[in-house]
This record gives sequence, structure tokens and C-alpha cells, in this order.
Amino acid sequence: MIRKKAIEILNENWQGNFTIPCDGLYPFQWKWDSGFIAIGFAHFDMDKAKKEISTLLDAQWENGFIPHIVFHNESDTYFPGADYHQSNLHPKASKKYKSTGMTQPPVIGFVLKELYRISKDKKDILQFIETVIDKVYDSHNYFYENRDPYNEGLVYIYHNWESGTDNSPMWDGIFKTMDSPEYNFERRDTAHVDAAQRPSKREYDHYLYILEIAKEHNYDDQKIAELSPFLVQDPLFNSILIKSNQSLIELYNLLVNNQEKINQLKEWQAKSIETFNIKLFDEELGAYVHYDLRHDKQLKYISSSSFTPLFAGIPSQERAQILVNTLNEKFGGKDKYLCASFDPTDEQFNPVKYWRGPIWININWMLYYGLKKYGFNELALRVKKDSIELVEKVGFYEYFDPRKDVYKNRTLGYGGNNFSWTAALIIDLLDE
Ligand code: DGY
Repeated sequence: MIRKKAIEILNENWQGNFTIPCDGLYPFQWKWDSGFIAIGFAHFDMDKAKKEISTLLDAQWENGFIPHIVFHNESDTYFPGADYHQSNLHPKASKKYKSTGMTQPPVIGFVLKELYRISKDKKDILQFIETVIDKVYDSHNYFYENRDPYNEGLVYIYHNWESGTDNSPMWDGIFKTMDSPEYNFERRDTAHVDAAQRPSKREYDHYLYILEIAKEHNYDDQKIAELSPFLVQDPLFNSILIKSNQSLIELYNLLVNNQEKINQLKEWQAKSIETFNIKLFDEELGAYVHYDLRHDKQLKYISSSSFTPLFAGIPSQERAQILVNTLNEKFGGKDKYLCASFDPTDEQFNPVKYWRGPIWININWMLYYGLKKYGFNELALRVKKDSIELVEKVGFYEYFDPRKDVYKNRTLGYGGNNFSWTAALIIDLLDE
């Protein structure tokens, strides 16, 4: 039943060459959404999966950068839109598409590997992969060349919108160090979704302020590294990069004449994993954490991002066990669905507000495969069952309350409804 509905949602949100994440709230193409959406399509319409990816890559910049939003149309239901972001300030921006000048987690590498896994016609999908894989490689090259100023193997994000976990309490301390002006602007998101479930006005001031600084310097990476008040090495973002590196190595091995690229990927990979394990792990918390590169310190909070290194095979088996203990202890109480996006035992936890507590299906999907990889089958199964149960209970929402008791009275999820990646990844979990 829910599989049929999921397929309907994806087809409904399909625009002919890409898919919107959600009608009204998100009317363009988003980078990491597109990747997860393609995994869903791969189970029933591989042509759409391929088109989703090639459309996104068509908007790639000359320097390999893949932007976080591609503005395919002139919708005025979203703020800030193309005219605000002004990607054309950057000399290497796409001339064909307007976009933002920031990126999002680099999912496309591992998504290609997923398309290969799911496809019943390996020869056909490999032919497709061969036409796009170098573009994905170039986007990784962009990160290592421009986002790793100390040559550590960890790349930075310069905006919370790059993290994907937009309003995580993780960023609150950084925003406090900024003297952001109060801007006058008209929010559009709160016309679609209850404001209690979205970031605050003051948070949007900070988001715009970081953006203004980047624009003032024409999105120049070196200037941003020097001047952005927000500069973070994010465990979710870097886990996804490392997972995608690994997928590119495996896929290049199935194709011919790519030894040089394979060698380069392996070099990045070795350094990235090593530094990740040293710099982004906190023994006391028993979890991976974010590193604030601007203020040179770890951000000592646990979020669902703390566990995503499992998905990329980053921790040793021993450390994976430590992560699982932390996950069970802080997030896994019997009164909760897995997995809250922020530490439920922290006072900043908010179970209804976007990335400050609610459950997101894309993170659950990564946790499911990560836990399985390390042999934590029971916990993996719980994450999968919780995801499916939530969707069965309330529908294909953008995010969900982790507290079980609220569903006695509650028949809705939070944020947008008929949300594409929720539909896509539920199909994958059901078919897996
Ligand atoms: C939003 O508008 O909230 C998006 O998540 C930004 O990418």
C-alpha cells in the first residue's frame, strides 16, 4: 500500500527532467534530495533516475562545483531565490542555469553505486555511469582543492545550508559570535508550514549574513575560507564524501583506463579517514562531533550526524560499538522512535523543529545501511521498522516527532507532506 503511494508521490513531483522535493515549499531541484530521489526511481523507473542525475550534473560549474539548488523555473514561492543568491557573481558558475553559490552533501558518488546495485541491466547502467562519473570525480576534486585549506583530508562547509541539517543547535554558538544585522525580507516557508516547525526569523538573519559575506567576495573560495564567520568540518558532510569516494573507486574499477583517478581517490580516502578518526571523535561523548574551523575547537554535541560515519565505514569495529552504545543510551529509549536528529537528553532538543530533534528518513536510511555493515542487525532493523511505521501512521512527511506518545493524538508529521526523499527511501527500504 505505502509502496504504491510512494511511487505516486515521486511521479507527481517529477517535472520532466528533475524532481521537486515537495510541492509549494521547495519548488526547484536540490542537490542531496536529487540523489536520494534517484535511488527511489531506480526501483521502478531507471530512466527517471538517470535523468534526475544528469540534469543536476548539467548545472555543474566549470570548477567542478555542484550547487545546492538549481533554479529551473521562476517560482516566487521560495525565499531566498535565484535573484538573491546571484550565482553569476562567480566567474566559473554555470552559464546555463541559475543556482545558489553554496553546495550540499556530496551524495552523487554513492548514489551511482546504488543505481548499479539496484539495476537489473548492469551493462546499461554502467554505460550511463561512464557518461557521468568523471563529473562526480571533478566535484570531489573541487572539494579537496578548495575546501581543505590545511590539506588534512577534511573539507569545510561555509554555511549551515551546506550541511543539510540547516538549523541544528550545533550552529547556535557560532551564530552568537556573529553580529548579524536584522534584515527585512518576506519568508515564504512559513506560508506553507507551521512556523513552530521551521527556523526562526533571527536564524534567517544569520543565514543571510553569511551569504552576504560570500556574495561580497563573489563566492571566492579563498576569501570565504579567510573571512566567513561560519567554517565547519561536518561529520555528516565528510562521511558522505568518503562514502562517495569509495563508491567511485569501486565503479571506476568496473570501467577501463581509470588507474590515475583510482589512485588519487585512494590517496584522498586514506588521508580523510585517518584525520576524521583523530579530529572528529570525542572520547568523552563516545561520538563523532563537528569541528569549528573558524574558532579552532570541537563542537561538543551529539546529533544524528554523529553516527553517519558508520555508513561510510570510517570507525573501527571497536569504535562502532562505542557509537552504538551512545546511540542506544541517548537516542534509543523505548519511548522514542529512532533516530532523533539531535541529542534528546540535551536541553536544546526540540522534537518538532526541523533539524533540532525530529527524525529524518534520509538519515535513518544511512544509519540502517551503516549499522548493518558493522553487524548490528537488530538495531538496523529497528531503524528500518521505525521509519516504515512512522510513514504508515502519518504519511510521507518531511520529518517526524521521535516521541512515541504524541502519536496517540497526532495524525500528522511535520514540515512538507508528500516529500520526495521520504517516498524514495521508503521504497528502497521496503524492497531491500
Ligand atoms: C530551506 O529552505 O529550508 C532549505 O532546506 C535550504 O536548503
